[in-house]
Amino acid sequence: MALLEQLNKRYATKQFDTSKKIPAQDLATLLEAIRLSASSYGLQAYKVIVVENNEIRKQLRTVSWDQPQITDSSQLLVFAVETDADESTVDRFVENIAKTRSMDTKDLAGYSDMMKSTFGRPNEVVQNWLTHQVYIGLGFGLVAAAEMNIDACPMEGFDSDKYDEILGLKEKNLHSVVLLTIGYRSSDDHYQQLAKVRRSKEDFFINI
Ligand SMILES: Cc1cc2nc3c(=O)[nH]c(=O)nc-3n(C[C@H](O)[C@H](O)[C@H](O)COP(=O)(O)O)c2cc1C
Repeated sequence: MALLEQLNKRYATKQFDTSKKIPAQDLATLLEAIRLSASSYGLQAYKVIVVENNEIRKQLRTVSWDQPQITDSSQLLVFAVETDADESTVDRFVENIAKTRSMDTKDLAGYSDMMKSTFGRPNEVVQNWLTHQVYIGLGFGLVAAAEMNIDACPMEGFDSDKYDEILGLKEKNLHSVVLLTIGYRSSDDHYQQLAKVRRSKEDFFINI
């Protein structure tokens, strides 16, 4: 399978080639793959902020353990969960389904009620659930990047509260969760030479 070859080639890139930028069309394709990600009910209660501005990235690097990928990648994607997601999020989603599929929202009332009941749980539980969806988007991005020969590094090594401050996310009712830096590997990045370390199939899969 060609995809497996690409997945074996990809690695969490530590050093990007600062002279290379992802062409606009490829960036659009990668972002589209992330937008097409699956999510619970299809709610997609998160946003992806595409950061290219060098000055902002310099600031972000200071609150990301000084990891060079933040400034040296072609773009930095910040995945941020919606902190104000509630029943109105479901209403908006239902309207989108109705419009997209030429349906009457009334015919979606049962589905809407079911989704709304999920928001009846404590806020912490709801936020935790919605945050899980963000990681599926990250996964789609990683696989799509690999398929397109775009290098990437998923990153949790950053101060999310500081990111929210620098990017003005709080005002937008967003909270940064995880990053994906994207670009092209530097030939100096010795991590690309290392063999992939994964649990063995026997250890990883359970056949019942
Ligand atoms: C959610 C998540 C957070 C990560 N955070 C960082 C990070 O902050 N910095 C970094 O260099 N790598 C980070 N990584 C990369 C992992 O260390 C890497 O994916 C793992 O060691 C497996 O290696 P591979 O992706 O190169 O195959 C992260 C990976 C994931 C999935």
